[in-house]
Amino acid sequence: MEGVKKLFFGGNWKAAVRPSQAAGFFAKFAAGLRGHVYDLEMAGARVVVAPPSACLSIARQALVNEGLEGVVGLAVQDPWIAEGAYTGATTFEMAQDPLVGAQYALIGHSETREPHRIYRSVAVLDETRLVEIGGLTGKSPRPFRIAIDAVVNRMTRKALELGMIPIVCVGETLEEREAGKTRQIIEHQMSGALAGFTPEQIGKMVIAYEPVWAIGTGRTATPEQAQEVHEQIAAILMEHSHTAENVVPVIYGGSMKPDNVAELVTQRDIHGGLIGGASLKPEVFLELILKGVRAFS
Ligand code: PGA
Repeated sequence: MEGVKKLFFGGNWKAAVRPSQAAGFFAKFAAGLRGHVYDLEMAGARVVVAPPSACLSIARQALVNEGLEGVVGLAVQDPWIAEGAYTGATTFEMAQDPLVGAQYALIGHSETREPHRIYRSVAVLDETRLVEIGGLTGKSPRPFRIAIDAVVNRMTRKALELGMIPIVCVGETLEEREAGKTRQIIEHQMSGALAGFTPEQIGKMVIAYEPVWAIGTGRTATPEQAQEVHEQIAAILMEHSHTAENVVPVIYGGSMKPDNVAELVTQRDIHGGLIGGASLKPEVFLELILKGVRAFS
């Protein structure tokens, strides 16, 4: 059954925002967004922000204060699967607690998939620290839980069990693209993520295609490059669930900006974006969303 394409814009703040900045963001964002709520509704566009976990309750409170609770959703980034003795973790349950109120969970982002998390983490440690921790070079022991496909699948199941909406990220590295392996990687990551789910469960997901080489690099995939992979993802979704077309938003992520959003969202199988850098400033994020909505309607 073919539905009408609906738009979805997610802001992924990663670890770039502090609680006091989050409150300021929402005050400005709300002021700009308020006059456009009707346009968003007409376009069936959903807006979600994924703040760092320390900012989630502040973000929720700010949305309540601004009367935007039902307009802007909240996502937790990379939550942990179980409650208990896991130092440092933020669980799905914490994020979903009424005082926090996240309805979405960002799962399988490349910064949490091997090996990027290790490399990036190593890059921020200084030499002394590297020696102290015993030659951690990116090849040796895994200091973190790694969001491999099986973990992504388990996290997705957990989100659905709790009634949260999983935003599942997939995407190839530059090396994989240059080796002609993009299709294979996407097939692998998608079938890993979707394994064992019913069409009804798949119908509740959001998929983000994020080519790793385009994330935070300013190097956006061309609309044709992105569309090619989105078309593949749409086909995989259809194989797993014949009701998935246009019900599951498949959004693009990787240096999406106000300048390139229109050419991306007007591609047949692109339903919006997962936006990092350009979601950090309220006026830029709003401009991007509105340009996306206008291009599409
Ligand atoms: P970017 O990040 O927009 O800064 O490239 C996107 C993401 O990683 O989700």
